[in-house]
Amino acid sequence: MNVLVLGSGGREHTFAWKIAQSPYCTTLFVAPGNSGTASVATNLEISVTDFEGIKSAVLNHNIEMVVVGPEDPLVHGVHDFFLNDDALKHVAVIGPQKAAATLEGSKEFAKEFLYRHNIPTAAYESFTAHNLEKGFSFLETLSPPYVLKADGLAAGKGVLIINDLEEAKSELKNMLVDSKFGAASTKVVIEEFLDGIELSCFVLTDGLHYKILPTAKDYKRIGEGDTGLNTGGMGAISPVPFADEVLLSKIEERIVKPTVEGLKKDQTPYKGFIFIGLIVVNNEPLVIEYNVRMGDPETEAVLPRINTDLMEIFMAINDQTLNTINLDINPQTATTVMLVSGGYPEAYDKGKTISGFDSVQEALVFHAGAKHSNGEVVTSGGRVMAVTAFGTDYKIALEKAYTEVSKINFEGMNYRKDLGFDL
Ligand code: AMP
Ligand code: GLY
Repeated sequence: MNVLVLGSGGREHTFAWKIAQSPYCTTLFVAPGNSGTASVATNLEISVTDFEGIKSAVLNHNIEMVVVGPEDPLVHGVHDFFLNDDALKHVAVIGPQKAAATLEGSKEFAKEFLYRHNIPTAAYESFTAHNLEKGFSFLETLSPPYVLKADGLAAGKGVLIINDLEEAKSELKNMLVDSKFGAASTKVVIEEFLDGIELSCFVLTDGLHYKILPTAKDYKRIGEGDTGLNTGGMGAISPVPFADEVLLSKIEERIVKPTVEGLKKDQTPYKGFIFIGLIVVNNEPLVIEYNVRMGDPETEAVLPRINTDLMEIFMAINDQTLNTINLDINPQTATTVMLVSGGYPEAYDKGKTISGFDSVQEALVFHAGAKHSNGEVVTSGGRVMAVTAFGTDYKIALEKAYTEVSKINFEGMNYRKDLGFDL
């Protein structure tokens, strides 16, 4: 069948690379894609939220499956758009409908879901500009640091962790009254701070059954030793070495099962990936967030470890027969190093020529913010390329990844040289 992947990052290049290996995929399209997806698929110049444009492409190219990479189209109801259109409703869409996508679209909705289904998470209350004073009083009952979360989508920037009470109050006011994050901070969730170590758990569900994918850990801060500004993610390691059988079974019993059951009970259909952000405090896992998609760069480390045909998995999700799939996982560790533009996550230049990625042989190179221009591949975003290498443990895999990274160059190129420092 013909398949369309929506998105343009390293995650989508990885999806496209994996789908293109499947005998079930006839012609693969990516919208809008990047220079990497162009090597395995046909790029279509359509934005991921241009539903009418996507519809035309699906009809023109006889596309029978759409795999949604980022959260934006899901939160805006792309799956519902397909189901509500007679010409599109036969198309398989991998990604939840709008109701369930609200798990990522609204932090308050996610907290209510977690509480309703007794899934461990931090205590919280939510506030609007109308009860700002109550927000101040609630902050006074907590001990620092204070965790303030914009309710809506804020491109990964909507969470503030603040040590000083007065500063927390003033930021709460900035968010609620002065629209610090625009409409996303019309409501703010204030949460108890959890002191622990983070990991991500990825689940596939067809709404009835689930499969747990390999765990991964990403490195969000720009600076070594987890310092400096937050980024989309500077690298990933899969599996997470400290996620042993005991912890994994707690995650499955206390978090994954009640999440899938909760979606069923709430009658919110879900066909796609659930990315559960976890924090482990005294060996007990708690949920810090849900995302309704795969992570980036976690995808670049997790998907290459899945030997099973991804199209078989997606078709089973669509048919609600995920229980019949046997996941074959490569036991090796995969590590992903993200190469970013100088200055990122603040202002950076684009259009820098990227060289050397063609000579990488011992690793996979996934393009992110990279595009073709005048016969060259040039930078077009903050996160430029992801380099994934395998090894019997994360140290060996990382060493290989860094050796391969040294072959790639563009003006201003930056990357974290300390991935795994905390393991
Ligand atoms: P979120 O977007 O909810 O994942 O939050 C972004 C980051 O803030 C997380 O990856 C954590 O590092 C941190 N964070 C979020 N909530 C908490 C919490 N309750 N306690 C401690 N850290 C948190
Ligand atoms: N790497 C974190 C995310 O995709 O949200």
